[in-house]
Amino acid sequence: MSETSAAPKFSVSDRNLALELVRVTEAAAVASSHWTGRGLKNDADGAAVEAMRKAFDTVAINGTVVIGEGEMDEAPMLYIGEKVGAGGPEMDIAVDPLEGTTLCAKDMPNALTVVALAEKGKFLHAPDVYMEKLVVGPGLPEDVVDIDAPIGVNLKNLAKALKKDIGEVLLCALDRDRHQEMIAKTREAGARVRLFSDGDVAAAIAACLPTSSVDIFAGSGGAPEGVLAAAAVRCTGGQMQARLLFEDDEQRERARLMNPGKDPDRRLGLYDLADGEVLFSATGVTSGFLLEGVKRVPSGAITHTLVMRSKSGTLRFVEGHHNYNTKTWGAY
Ligand code: FBP
Repeated sequence: MSETSAAPKFSVSDRNLALELVRVTEAAAVASSHWTGRGLKNDADGAAVEAMRKAFDTVAINGTVVIGEGEMDEAPMLYIGEKVGAGGPEMDIAVDPLEGTTLCAKDMPNALTVVALAEKGKFLHAPDVYMEKLVVGPGLPEDVVDIDAPIGVNLKNLAKALKKDIGEVLLCALDRDRHQEMIAKTREAGARVRLFSDGDVAAAIAACLPTSSVDIFAGSGGAPEGVLAAAAVRCTGGQMQARLLFEDDEQRERARLMNPGKDPDRRLGLYDLADGEVLFSATGVTSGFLLEGVKRVPSGAITHTLVMRSKSGTLRFVEGHHNYNTKTWGAY
């Protein structure tokens, strides 16, 4: 047998791996749930990181973190380049162990733990800069919206494609001063706006779910969160466009070094962000418009997870009941 044929087969599309990811995000969610409402966002994040890192030890992959907690000298665990997993097929990993650290610290809606997997080299290597993002759900004509078009035009085209009155179209955006103009123009166009204080991965996913009332997510947020959102959007069949935003040339140079040969200012399509087959899992820490949060009960904890695979396009909402009284509690 040749060396090539003896190598483990790539298996991001492995159905069972999706359940392994559920365990990973569940573990991080339960750990950070001890910190909800305590006002200590770094401790909450630290607990999620540690639990997620430990949970990866039991997953039979040879993973490399490409979207993580920062550079090796900035983060003790789940840093960019760190190898995780118990050994197996090589794949790239994007993590946000606690998406919405402030939400968790203040016990506000929509804090999540998030993981995505892709074949090697298929995620955009996103530096910790802002990213302009535009997301709409599945079943719409391709490029019904355009990141370079005025928001009013996008909303008009979207309303037409959705066969809705523009007054019924709901745009979701982070409540930030930098979005004031977009918000004003959205309202001027007659559409509605839902603002949220943090956690734009949940908002991007909500724009793709038929069960949510969100029709479009727009605005700028973290670039790493943009890659995670793209993995989720891929699984739902939704559309996403994006662009990295730089405050200075140093940031631009960093993006250039991370993605050699690519124009850092280019417009990014969904497959530039997350290509190939991808897996995605997110568990609620606090209840929000996507998932219920961790419910702590006398015997343990109940978790709610959304797990998706691009290959099948199946979305599963998994309710986990974790029992403190078993010997295996905490040993994910
Ligand atoms: P953290 O979990 O790192 O606190 O990120 C929360 C978040 O709201 C992201 O969801 C979003 O992409 C980013 O921060 C927005 O950044 P900013 O608060 O600087 O506008």
